[in-house]
Amino acid sequence: MKVIITGANGQLGTSLQEHVPGDVEVVALGSDEFDITSDRKIEEIFKTHKPDVVINTAAYTSVDKAEVEEERAREVNALAVKKLAAACRDNNVFLVHISTDYVFDGLASLPYKEADPINPINIYGKTKAEGEQAIIRSGAKYAIIRTSWVFSEFGTNFLKTMMRFGETKDRLNIVSDQMGAPTYAGDIADVIYTILQKQDTIDHEIFHFTGDQITSWADYAKFIFKTAFEADKIPRRVFVKGISADEYPTAAKRPKNSVMDCKKIKDLCDINASDWQSAVKKIITEKY
Ligand SMILES: NC(=O)c1ccc[n+]([C@@H]2O[C@H](COP(=O)([O-])OP(=O)(O)OC[C@H]3O[C@@H](n4cnc5c(N)ncnc54)[C@H](OP(=O)(O)O)[C@@H]3O)[C@@H](O)[C@H]2O)c1
Repeated sequence: MKVIITGANGQLGTSLQEHVPGDVEVVALGSDEFDITSDRKIEEIFKTHKPDVVINTAAYTSVDKAEVEEERAREVNALAVKKLAAACRDNNVFLVHISTDYVFDGLASLPYKEADPINPINIYGKTKAEGEQAIIRSGAKYAIIRTSWVFSEFGTNFLKTMMRFGETKDRLNIVSDQMGAPTYAGDIADVIYTILQKQDTIDHEIFHFTGDQITSWADYAKFIFKTAFEADKIPRRVFVKGISADEYPTAAKRPKNSVMDCKKIKDLCDINASDWQSAVKKIITEKY
């Protein structure tokens, strides 16, 4: 099976390259080699590589910047995805696309299911939702995987930011009234490769896949600092004070509760939720 990975230098793109199973041939293309907004490039890449599958991890992911760069965010997260999906349909290629908890408004009291109505509250979420809709309407075979709070040993993420703060800070104020589930990019990579094995039976599906423990940003940070201190990776304990999102204004609004129900992927693909706490411990002990 020949698989093209877009956005290959991002954190999920890199993780996918680290987890390739033996029967998969990967062509990993960063934004410099494959700009997904370019019609010409899409045509050329499909013609040159003749893939069976495209895994689209490429995205405009700067959530706050998207509020002032709506056009660019839409170009990458929606318009390019529409073109990619059309090329997949025309070439009979299976499209695996990554989406986000930010397609929801965060007002639900129960974990979101795949069929729940979407209602994004920021530009990034809106453009990602438009990307999903474009795929669903395209006629291509697809699996859309919505995930949340992604971290890994690569790229930029909350874990790495906290570890940097831990070198110098002894107190931090962190938002404690937004609930979600951190997800390890290595686990998302494994899930994607499992789905590829089952594409004959699950060729038009949305799935939710996230970490197994719900937390707030403040409790997530506390877990990181406790683990890092006990592993002797930061010089002192860091005191985390929980604050409300109103006390930490950002350009983009974030959902209050972006917890997603992952039962469907568990039942259909026999996949457990991401054990994010073990992954955090492993990264801190082995990479710092
Ligand atoms: N990070 C999270 O917490 C999170 C949460 C939920 C869902 N997701 C979704 O998960 C996916 C992977 O996220 P990630 O954390 O791996 O993001 P990331 O580290 O920011 O990587 C995204 C990659 O996309 C590339 N890219 C941007 N514009 C492109 C274009 N026009 N053509 C080709 N490549 C382009 C970027 O390359 P350059 O840097 O060279 O521009 C970057 O390497 C995305 O779809 C994202 O929306 C992420």
